[in-house]
Amino acid sequence: MYITQETEPAPLSPRHFHWRRSWERLYWLPGLLLFAATVHAQQRPAQPWMDPALPAEQRAHLALQAMTLDEKLQLVHGTGWGVLRDGDPIAPGHNGGAGFVQGIPRLHIPDINLADSAVGIRMAARESRYATLLPSVLGLSATWDPDAAYLYGSVIGRELRDQGYNMSIGGGADLMREPRNGRNFEYAGEDPLLAGTEVGNLIRGVQSNQIIGDVKHYAFNDQETGRNTINVLLNQRAMRETDLLAFQIAVEIGHPLAAMCSYNRINGDYACENSYTLKDVLKHDFGFKGFVLSDWEGTHSTTKAALAGLDMEQPGSDFFGKPLMQAVENGSVPPSRLDDMAERVLYSLFASGAVDHPPMRRVVNPFLGLKDAQHIAEESIVLLQNEKQVLPLNKNQNGIIAIIGSHADVGVLSGGGSAQVDAPGGNAIDAREGAAVWGKPVYFPSAPLQFIREKAPHANLQFESGDNLQAAATLAAKADVAIVFVHQWMTEGQDAPSLSLPENQDGLVEAVANVSKKTIVVLETGGPVSMPWSPRVAAILETWYPGIGGGEAIANILFGDVNPSGKLPATFARQDADLPYPHVPGLTEATGNNGMNAHADGTKAEPEAATVDYNLQGVKVGYKWFQTEHKQPLFAFGHGLSYTNFTYSDLQCGSPSQAVTFKIQNTGQLAGEEVAQVYATLPASSGELFRRLVGWKRVALAPGETKMVTITPNPALLSVFDVKSDSWKLEPGVYRIEVGAASDDLKLNVAAALP
Ligand code: BGC
Repeated sequence: MYITQETEPAPLSPRHFHWRRSWERLYWLPGLLLFAATVHAQQRPAQPWMDPALPAEQRAHLALQAMTLDEKLQLVHGTGWGVLRDGDPIAPGHNGGAGFVQGIPRLHIPDINLADSAVGIRMAARESRYATLLPSVLGLSATWDPDAAYLYGSVIGRELRDQGYNMSIGGGADLMREPRNGRNFEYAGEDPLLAGTEVGNLIRGVQSNQIIGDVKHYAFNDQETGRNTINVLLNQRAMRETDLLAFQIAVEIGHPLAAMCSYNRINGDYACENSYTLKDVLKHDFGFKGFVLSDWEGTHSTTKAALAGLDMEQPGSDFFGKPLMQAVENGSVPPSRLDDMAERVLYSLFASGAVDHPPMRRVVNPFLGLKDAQHIAEESIVLLQNEKQVLPLNKNQNGIIAIIGSHADVGVLSGGGSAQVDAPGGNAIDAREGAAVWGKPVYFPSAPLQFIREKAPHANLQFESGDNLQAAATLAAKADVAIVFVHQWMTEGQDAPSLSLPENQDGLVEAVANVSKKTIVVLETGGPVSMPWSPRVAAILETWYPGIGGGEAIANILFGDVNPSGKLPATFARQDADLPYPHVPGLTEATGNNGMNAHADGTKAEPEAATVDYNLQGVKVGYKWFQTEHKQPLFAFGHGLSYTNFTYSDLQCGSPSQAVTFKIQNTGQLAGEEVAQVYATLPASSGELFRRLVGWKRVALAPGETKMVTITPNPALLSVFDVKSDSWKLEPGVYRIEVGAASDDLKLNVAAALP
């Protein structure tokens, strides 16, 4: 009332005005001070946790003390399947994502809105929102670039905020033990240092947007076949030196505020009630301070899970709703444990900034997303083969360029399952569907054909779908160059039955290679595939699932506007028989290529609780297996060519745990970036007969330029995990340090002793 009167003052003379303005100030000040003091007096003592100056731990603790038992329980479970299952109730405040936790308004504790966001934000179409599709995480890992990973996470975090979410579910860090795993495209490859570094930096990027970040699926969810029941067997040393090491590095770099435990069992116990992996390793040894949430319906008990370290059930409350209340009341779960669970959730809310900086909705910036996604794609594409330097292609060429296969005329492929992002305008191969449909491959409207046409305006571009081998061969025969696009669609819930490209695409490449002058194969795959035709084609590019900027990124590489610099984050075997498990364990004719089907209709056609004994492979994941078993891969871990050449020289290394220095020179005609890699072979006492990646650097070099590179190996990577003392130990003895362009292309080496 008083304010309204004062906002409409009578006209005053300038002199008066001056006087009046200072009078106003003086007049308002006591009122304001009184108001502020009242607010302060009301809020400060009652809600001290709302003071942003206090550390997150303290704020969480203070908030917890103000909570009732019901409120604590409310924070440790979701509210049901919500939008994921047709007909299920949707809680008020639910933002349309995969999960929802109700906040406590009286205490200013916000709702938690969780969105699947492994490679971009899922389920945007349902709300008419836009989400950037990034390259697959495996593609990101092929950049070997921690800055690209941070950028990747920032895109996800930025768009989550814009869409009104405050928690990301993503950050897949399971190692690629099984190259046919349907979710490899959500993970970062076979090496713990590379995977942990990329995922850790991705999480940093997500959390830089006041979003709770997540690491998943903890742990050993290394295949989809039988994933809800499968019992993974592995000894402790191998656990710590492989998948758990990847998670450890991701946690140390990214400080994720949440970790999702996986569906499978580990040495008998379900991952979400496994006190060794959750309590002893994640919380104690890694110092993880956030909360552990279960994968969707991955909670199997109340007391056992709570005591083992699970902090939140998702998506519902079957075990952590009423049954947890009863367990606390009857003493089987101590109240202090429930406090710890709720306090961890509170800590993550305060530490992320989700309380002080709630998301503000706005239209996602698709242009920025596209630019970032394309940049990452361009660093991620791996030039696997380039006979007689057929690439880059000449922009001035006349004649026919044949483009064959994989819908290259309309778009690029994306991965399925809960990592699926909705394509703008709908699936580029069937726009009528609207939002992505579980189980159906989705193409994004970034057509390689269109961008190739822009690069080569004088050429005659012709397209063949690849469905008819004869038609493809006829076109290829009259073309000057044939670019064959091949794909492997992968999704959560099923593994590939073999390393072979599906749908007789090997036959397609053969048919083209038989008649074409120059065959270039562009792969869009979820992970490694076999290529029986590799000796018969000139060039091969692995583009993973390249994301919304994929079409242009591919054209930029094909025509040399971007010099390829990606390196393989996983070994490409020649054939399934060379893998530790020639068949995906548990995948039979009966289960078919569909081990389970978790969401579409709730059915689960799974093999009975099978066991996979990873001790056979143990610490020898990926390239370590190939080296120990003396098997020659098709393309080795770390492999990737450039349009220029690099030479390595002057390796120096006093002690394995100190800096390794060497020189790299660009001896070619083009500027380029080289991912220089350092490997160490431990002393014989380690029992290991293979090299380990211990460091790398992405080095940009102009033609003729030389740079000195310094890489300090991470001591944990030089150590072995000693089970007896439950600690990491450096083995005394002689270490062989090797430096080079790939795990099978080592240019320099030196022996260095550790006393
Ligand atoms: C997947 C998780 C996902 C969750 C929610 C599960 O089936 O394994 O990765 O976050 O569903 O959609």
